[in-house]
Amino acid sequence: MIITPQLAGNVARSCHPIGCQQALQAQIDYVRAQGAITTPKRVLILGASSGFGLAARVALAFGGGADTYGVSFERGPSEKGVGSAGWYNNCYFRQAAEAAGLKAANTIGDAFSPKVQEKVIADLQADFGQIDMVIYSLATGRRDIPATGESFRSVLKTTGAPVEGNTINLEAQALEWTSIPTATSEEITHTTKVMGGEGWQEWIEALLAADLLAPGAQTLAFSYLGPELSAPVYRFGTIGVAKEHLHATANHLNEQLQQAVGGTAYPVVAKALVTKASVFIPVMSVYLALLMKQMKANGTHEGCIEQCYRLFATKGAGQQPVLDEDRQLRLDDYELAPSLQAEIAKIYPTINGDNFKALTDFDGYLHDFMALNGFDLAGVDYSAEVDMTEMAALKP
Ligand code: NAI
Ligand code: NA
Repeated sequence: MIITPQLAGNVARSCHPIGCQQALQAQIDYVRAQGAITTPKRVLILGASSGFGLAARVALAFGGGADTYGVSFERGPSEKGVGSAGWYNNCYFRQAAEAAGLKAANTIGDAFSPKVQEKVIADLQADFGQIDMVIYSLATGRRDIPATGESFRSVLKTTGAPVEGNTINLEAQALEWTSIPTATSEEITHTTKVMGGEGWQEWIEALLAADLLAPGAQTLAFSYLGPELSAPVYRFGTIGVAKEHLHATANHLNEQLQQAVGGTAYPVVAKALVTKASVFIPVMSVYLALLMKQMKANGTHEGCIEQCYRLFATKGAGQQPVLDEDRQLRLDDYELAPSLQAEIAKIYPTINGDNFKALTDFDGYLHDFMALNGFDLAGVDYSAEVDMTEMAALKP
């Protein structure tokens, strides 16, 4: 079949498997071109199929020769559609890693589910042995707790006064004036249940109980803080409260791991990037498109793979992590450079529906979003048939 992009608002309803393979290969090529790095050798990645989790996996495997076990929530091809980009990322990652002589296992399922956790632990015991690093990179809107029947949904709202601002609608290629309401305390609790540190804590405790963490094991979780400009929607938003919980969990886990295996836990504060998850955060999109323009202009632009390579190559993750006074590893150093943020703060208020394509890197933003789903990539023949029988035979 011939696969075309289908956008509904900010949601991609299709993906191009061959494009996904090419985008993954570009990440692998980037890491190989940068050169070998020292990384942990046996790594569990929760949220391994896209965004930061996938980029970390590529840096670990193709930079450091790591064996990786990935957990993600993705959809394979069926009568309903071609499946999700993350599905193909998993399949092609495994192929490439195995071709390089590395172990690369995947479990597709809900990382919050005790059944999935049990299966992963059994697999690790059978095939991997003790793990040197656990990466927590889940981005989701929902967490179900089967034992109690509870189901939590995260919301993207503010905790202060309602915020108004422009947001990018990718389908319409237009700005939309949006208003972000104040969350109720229940909504804040729910968002924290989903995107805070509880899931991370459960995994680390389960792995410790199964004696699956090696001496000196490290665990990191991706996080974001962002500048003053986005604070009303991010830092002081429901997601920011959840991240605060995640950071508190890091300190707690750090003590637990120190005692149990001489290990370490810390949050990695990354830069804002276009991923499947981030395009949903209202108002952030305009900031992000402007950030991309300014960082490209001053030569500090990075994508997930550049960030994740730097995480291991220069920030000491897995070795001696470079942490700030709050025990956070900062990959947002270039984003938060004061001169850059001053420039952004000047331009941001002048952006409107007529000039946003010129004042921001809207084209780059749209490209990055399309590329997440395997579209808009040079060298892929989008008029060619994709053999869905061949695609259905791929294994994550
Ligand atoms: P993403 O959407 O690209 O990746 C999310 C991953 O989680 C995917 O592998 C997905 O399959 C998996 N996942 C979602 N629900 C799951 C479930 N129930 N069970 C198992 N796997 C599940 O998102 P992204 O942006 O890479 O986010 C990862 C982390 O990075 C998040 O904590 C996010 O807050 C953080 N981050 C993101 C930034 C951004 O600008 N995108 C900036 C800084 C941090
Ligand atoms: Na991820």
